[in-house]
Order: sequence, then C-alpha cells, then structure tokens
Amino acid sequence: MKPSTAPKTYRVKSFGCQMNVYDGERMAELLGDRGITPAPEGEEADLVVLNTCHIREKAAEKVYSDIGRLVKAGEAVGKKPLIAVAGCVAQAEGEEIMARAPAVSMVVGPQAYHRLPEMLDRAVKGERAADTDMPAIAKFDSLPQRRKIGPTAFLTVQEGCDKFCTYCVVPYTRGAEISRPFSDLIIEAQKLVEAGAREITLLGQNVNAWSGGDDKGRAQGLAGLIRAIAKIDGLERIRYTTSHPADMDEALIAAHGEVEKLMPYLHLPVQSGADRVLKAMNRSHTAESYLRLLERFRAARPDIALSGDFIVGFPGETEAEFADTLSLVDEVRYAQAYSFKYSPRPGTPAATMDGQIAREVMDERLQRLQAALNRDQFAFNQASVGKICDVLVERKGKHEGQWLGKSPWLQSVWFEGDCAIGDMVTVELAEAGPNSLKGLLRQSAAVA
Ligand code: SAH
Ligand code: SF4
Ligand code: F3S
Repeated sequence: MKPSTAPKTYRVKSFGCQMNVYDGERMAELLGDRGITPAPEGEEADLVVLNTCHIREKAAEKVYSDIGRLVKAGEAVGKKPLIAVAGCVAQAEGEEIMARAPAVSMVVGPQAYHRLPEMLDRAVKGERAADTDMPAIAKFDSLPQRRKIGPTAFLTVQEGCDKFCTYCVVPYTRGAEISRPFSDLIIEAQKLVEAGAREITLLGQNVNAWSGGDDKGRAQGLAGLIRAIAKIDGLERIRYTTSHPADMDEALIAAHGEVEKLMPYLHLPVQSGADRVLKAMNRSHTAESYLRLLERFRAARPDIALSGDFIVGFPGETEAEFADTLSLVDEVRYAQAYSFKYSPRPGTPAATMDGQIAREVMDERLQRLQAALNRDQFAFNQASVGKICDVLVERKGKHEGQWLGKSPWLQSVWFEGDCAIGDMVTVELAEAGPNSLKGLLRQSAAVA
C-alpha cells in the first residue's frame, strides 16, 4: 500500500450495542488527542473507523459493502481514505478482512483499540496492521480523559462474558468477564459529570456481574458501585445495562427501592419462555425463576419499567414452545423489549444444532411476538398518562420550540416550552403514542 498523508479528519461509525457507542467515543477521543478533528457533516473523512457488530446476520457482508462505498465516495472527490475496521467483526474475522479488503489498513479488536494511534502511524507509512489481542483491562489505562459534553453518557464498568449462551458470539469477540476497578470508575464518572453529563448509564455485557473492592477495600457488587456513584454532586440519574438473571443479587434489587438517582428501569433479557429452549440455549434460568426475580424487583420498586430481549426460532423451537414465550410476555407486561430472529453465528454450538427453523416460520413468530410487545408498550405508555415526572432534555425536536427527553422509565417524551438541552424539567405526561409520549411542560429547570 502506498504511503498516505497524515489524516486531518476522522469519522467513527459505530454499529451494535451501547458498548460499541462507548468504544466509538473513546476512539474518537484518541484521535482527537492526535489533533485529528471530526469530519464536517456531508464531507468525506480522511480516516474512517468502522466500529462493527457481529451479533446477527450479514454483519460481515455489511462491513465489506461499507468499505466498498467508502472507497467509491473517496474516489469521487479524489481521496483515498484510511480505513480502520474495529469492533466485534474485526475480532471475529480480522484475518479475512485483511485478506479480502486491501483498502483496509487497520483491523483492531474491542480490547486493543487503545493501540489505534500507533497503528495509524504505521498506516500513514503504508503499512497494514491487525491487532486482535485481548489484554482485558489494559486499554482503559491508556485512554485519554473524558470530554463528553452531552447530558447523557455511557460508562463501561464491566466487559466480556463467561456465560456462553449457545447462540451468541459475544464471549468470543469480547473475551472473558472483567470488572474495571472501583476507583477508576468513580474518577471517570466524576469527569463525565464535570464535562456535563447528568445521567450515566453503566455498561457491561453482564453489567450486574461487576465486582470490586471500594476505597476502603470492602468487596462491592454493582449495587455498591451505584451507591458510590450516586454521591457525585450534579449527577441526577443512573441506569445500567445489560443484566443477566444469573448475576442478580438482593443488594441490587434493594438499591432500586432506596437509591433515588437509580432510575426505575430494568433491562433483563429472558430470550425464551420455554424451559427446554432455555436449557438448549445454556441460559441458567427457567421461565419461573425469571418471573420470580421480576416480582422481587416490582416489590422493591412497584413502578419499575421492565424490558427484555427475545430470540424466536432457536433451533428446535416448537409452536408450543413459542406459545410459552407469548405467555411469559403476557404475564410480565414489558414496558419495552427487543426481539430478534435467531441467526446462526459461525463457531457457536447452536449453529450446528438439529432443527434449524425455516425463515418463514421465524418471520411469522417474530411478527406475533412483536405485536404482543407493541401492545404492552403502548399500554404502558397509556398508563403513564397523567403522571407528572422529571424529564432530562436530550435534544431539540423536529419542530421549532419542541424538545425531546426521557422520562424516568426511559420513555421518549416530547414537549414544547422554554428550556435547554441538559435541563431537568417537570413535565405532565399528557398523551400516549406507541413509541413516545407528548408532555406538557409544568416547570422549567430551576435557575441555579
Ligand atoms: N449480554 C446481554 C446481551 C447480549 S447481545 C445478554 O446476555 O442478555 C443482545 C441480544 O442479542 C441478546 O440478548 C439476544 O437476544 C440477541 N442475540 C444474541 N445472539 C443472537 C443470535 N445468534 N441470533 C439472534 N439474536 C441474538
Ligand atoms: Fe451472549 Fe449470553 Fe453472554 Fe449475553 S449472556 S453476551 S447472550 S453469551
Ligand atoms: Fe455487537 Fe459486539 Fe456489542 S457483537 S452487540 S458490538 S458486544
């Protein structure tokens, strides 16, 4: 590959989960430290980082078509962008990418992206490099300080997964479960708040598996970390995602009843309502144990909004087993949930299981499941009408004078009135839609 001139502008495109969004922000900060600036809207960047996701179908093909598009767009303006592929596809298929896509000069896995600047120096000289090492915690120590300025921020506290659900690539792409040290997290949370964050979402593939010793050396779980972060002045809201039923403890449940800044929302994926399927998935819970767990959350925080993930069409799933999933949904009445068609992932045990389900069957099951979930989401929104709650203003709405923010239950709320991004305002929830609510501004942010 011919040497290029040092890039002046960058663009980071993140796909997949919120952790990828967090990683994308950190890569942007690394590049910013090098004096490289974000490419203006509508302009081709000198350096493009594709921060990829491998969780479901066509992830890799999408990367190749994105690369093709970037090369073409560059040619049209007489540019040859430097391209880095990061994220979970990079981890899973790094070598193939290097072999198949000569336009890519850097491949960097989710645990190695702190080395992006060095790789960039080599790329500028015309060398290609791939780094998919998994040094676990090392990257966090080599990242620059946070300079997030929006009102909501992500903070990765735990990474990796030891659960090995039989359908899932994450244990292979993100590596073993690690927890970042308590003191590092308190410092990063403080920096985020100083930089303008009023809400922090703690992230982990199994966030509730976080553990560590606090400043006095006492063993803490996620609840202890949340209580410590809640002490930060200026921080108003704490959320966390994604939890695994197996790692839930009483302390976290209790925190929902006691920590005012901890928002009444829980994302707890179940995947299926049929115990045989759950076992084949290597999930450690049953439908019953999952439901009992949710009851305990509801006892601690009666208004808690529940969310989950579902997979339809796991190999061997019968119509009766799918009906069990629908019954579970009927019983929980989720405020919101994600549902997916099973996608065989190369190298996972489920990909070679007997009884792979036909696409049409999956389509039809997904439609029925989504109809049930949409019905419940709408009902949850309708039941919120009349409530007066805090809304954290995140951005401007489509129309002049309109604002968008989130309720404590993570519903999108839009309203009109006098306020600014980052304000915590009091809103009456006035009208429910399937995906959002219309609010009436009752009180603008208190003037400090
Ligand atoms: N760590 C989290 C989420 C992991 S990925 C958890 O354990 O719940 C997010 C969601 O993608 C999963 O909850 C699952 O519903 C879905 N998913 C993962 N692998 C999948 C696959 N092979 N096919 C379809 N959906 C999948
Ligand atoms: Fe994947 Fe299961 Fe781990 Fe979640 S718990 S990341 S679904 S293996
Ligand atoms: Fe995707 Fe990797 Fe996240 S596969 S969902 S980006 S952990």
